[in-house]
Amino acid sequence: MMQESHRLRCTGCARLIALADLKENFRCPECGDLYEVEYPAWSGQNGSGQNGSGQNASGEAEGAAKRNLPNPSALRWLWKERRSSTELKDQSGVWRFRDLLPILRDEQHIVSLREGNTPLYHLVRTADLTGADRIFAKHQGMNPTGSFKDTGMTTALSVAYERGFSWVACASTGNTSAAMAAYAARAGMRSLVLIPEGKIAWGKLSQALDYGALTIQLKTDFDGCVRVLTEVVRRAPVYLLNSVNPYRLEGQKTPALEIAEQMDWEVPDHLIVPGGNLANGSALGKAFLEMKQLGLTDRVPRISIVQAEGANPLYRSMQESGGERLTPVEADTRASAIRIGNPASWRKAVKVIRATGGWVEEATEAEIALAKAEIGAEGIGCEPASAVTMVGLKKFLAAGKIGVHESVVLLLTGHTLKDSDYTIEYHRGTLLREEEIGPLGGEIEITRRNTIELDADVDAVLRVLERLAV
Ligand code: F0G
Repeated sequence: MMQESHRLRCTGCARLIALADLKENFRCPECGDLYEVEYPAWSGQNGSGQNGSGQNASGEAEGAAKRNLPNPSALRWLWKERRSSTELKDQSGVWRFRDLLPILRDEQHIVSLREGNTPLYHLVRTADLTGADRIFAKHQGMNPTGSFKDTGMTTALSVAYERGFSWVACASTGNTSAAMAAYAARAGMRSLVLIPEGKIAWGKLSQALDYGALTIQLKTDFDGCVRVLTEVVRRAPVYLLNSVNPYRLEGQKTPALEIAEQMDWEVPDHLIVPGGNLANGSALGKAFLEMKQLGLTDRVPRISIVQAEGANPLYRSMQESGGERLTPVEADTRASAIRIGNPASWRKAVKVIRATGGWVEEATEAEIALAKAEIGAEGIGCEPASAVTMVGLKKFLAAGKIGVHESVVLLLTGHTLKDSDYTIEYHRGTLLREEEIGPLGGEIEITRRNTIELDADVDAVLRVLERLAV
């Protein structure tokens, strides 16, 4: 039988599972927790899979394992070289790093839309606003379907394709469904999308339809859609592509590699990530910890997660029990992407926060809306869920947790065009209720830019310019 390049380990009870025995719901039959992909060749480096300078390996077995380890300098060079290749698997900002995600048996099965390779922007206006001068945005909204989901979808869907599935499925607040539908279409596969009725942004719904998914709106919320889908995949030969699928997280590691590469293999002091189902922070944490283990970098950033106040089960869990227990909440926020009350990957997220020394914050509706406008004013923009990262930044600066000269990367997860209704309502002044705005009224007024309606008259336009002293 073919030797697998990777194995799956339960993150709860640490049990290993044969790939053939994996259940359709990707949960451990013993303890119900989620799996994580592990590469035996690397953990052989130091026996424990921890720390990992690998310099003092002793004994024949360890020595042999050490010889299997990728060489950091060679990898850095190779990854850069691949960017100028004309091959699809090299042009993809995910598969370019395939040495750190060897999950396929045959690279012919890669399904890619040239995802990844997204920009890292220096936020100069935010420096004026906050006094912090090394703030960057890693814009995952600049992916083919407009969100970070593409990086995980190319990996997990390629696995589904390689394993011969013809149907894939997800429950989604919108972005996962858009990404899955697109990648399934590329592979000639069928896709089933379950979304909460009336609770996802139109841009995302339109994508799923355009890419040909079977799209079902259920009269429930995201958490209800997950419950239904978990049973559907048990009864039908459909491959589950929600982020409980550990192969999604392997692809979602790659923005961390890109950030390190874009910062000349320094890592930022802080990385701030929005939290919904809590897979993304976990994936990025895995990436930074693996990079350190392999000697690609010498430290990890503090990884912090920010949730919407109306969908804050992790924030509450940290406040109430230090992340020991999580009580699901009835989620409600206009940042519909993160309207999730019972996040699947919360235990993984807690581990990453603990391992990196990060924190959890929450953001009110008015704080999110203002932060989104501020990111827009940088000429960058993002969807509402992504803007919680800016709120987190401001709160961590105010609390003295982040220093003004430390380097911080905000992970922007979705493109501003994903939810243009939200943006237009904000600028019209119809998004927020008076009682939600509270003390932020002044700042919000400064950022609002409503349209002006005039007759088609040159003088009328010039008068407006004059008023603004142009
Ligand atoms: N930001 C955006 C734009 C998202 O779409 C999501 C999740 C998140 C942040 C949160 O990431 O779940 O890994 O903590 N969207 C999922 C979806 C749930 O179905 O599109 P997470």
